[in-house]
Amino acid sequence: MESTRKQLIELLDSQQGYISGQDLSKRLNISRTAVWKHMKELEKDGYEIEAVQRKGYRIVSSPNKVSENTLQWGLNTDWLGHNLQHFKEVTSTQEVVHQLAKQGKPHGTVVIADKQVQGKGRMSRNWDSPKGKGIWMSILLRPELLPYQAPQLTLLAATVLAEVIAEQSSIMPQIKWPNDLLINHKKVSGILTEMQAEQDQIQYVVLGIGINVNQTESDIPEELQHKASSLQVESQQHWSIQDTIQRILQQFERTYDQFMTDGFKAVKLKWEQFGYRIGEEVTISTMKKSWQARLVGIEPDGALLARDEKGKEEKLYSAEIHW
Ligand code: BTN
Repeated sequence: MESTRKQLIELLDSQQGYISGQDLSKRLNISRTAVWKHMKELEKDGYEIEAVQRKGYRIVSSPNKVSENTLQWGLNTDWLGHNLQHFKEVTSTQEVVHQLAKQGKPHGTVVIADKQVQGKGRMSRNWDSPKGKGIWMSILLRPELLPYQAPQLTLLAATVLAEVIAEQSSIMPQIKWPNDLLINHKKVSGILTEMQAEQDQIQYVVLGIGINVNQTESDIPEELQHKASSLQVESQQHWSIQDTIQRILQQFERTYDQFMTDGFKAVKLKWEQFGYRIGEEVTISTMKKSWQARLVGIEPDGALLARDEKGKEEKLYSAEIHW
């Protein structure tokens, strides 16, 4: 986003009421005519701006379209998404964030795209990311954690998504360990956590979030319809992508900060509220074997605990669950 425009929105946003043209011109170090021109540009972007003589300007409403401006306006976070980039189309937001991380971009950088042409899922799968239908977003984190703790961030993100969806609708999502969000047994969202680490130190984490938001049933490929869905299909309501992103970022920041101070305990409790098929018989597959077991829950470090038919318990850090 052009930086003066961004500062202008931030100034208008930080104000309870009106802010005068003179004040804006002083703070932004531009002429009052330039302030007025920027206001006209914002209106073209779909912002509704009220200008009152002797009082100044205020934003009445922001447009319901996804852009850096609209995502940042009203985003109530301390560090997450302050550096935010929005693209119409990318290969994968994961790739973009990896590049930004290597350029030294800060913790909390967020990249969002309307469409991905090479969206990545776990296990080298493709992630279908059609234009304007979902949330395709990656977050750059530079956590002070040991590499073995990074998967906890996946579980944390899953609880955040589940909470935001539950708050905004009457549906109760469930989390299939470790990273799938299901509604009515169908996947609506997945999380891909990629890490760059050296020995005992994480350099950075790229946390990718994909949510099928406003796909209709016919938008979902027929061969996937028995196992994939969208928020719209399951809740029978249209979702604002921009508002949902803001809620996710706000909730993510709160949960992440709490996790950094208090550890994984609170996340574990929340995860358990949403845990899928806990206490049930499932089939578990790893690279080495496939077996029947009962899911017991998650361990204090986020590993999945499963008990086989003979009562033997196993902690799993990477596995696929089927039923
Ligand atoms: C999965 O369930 O397999 C994980 C899917 C993760 C998809 C998201 S969409 C945003 C980010 N960019 C990608 O290419 N992948 C992740």
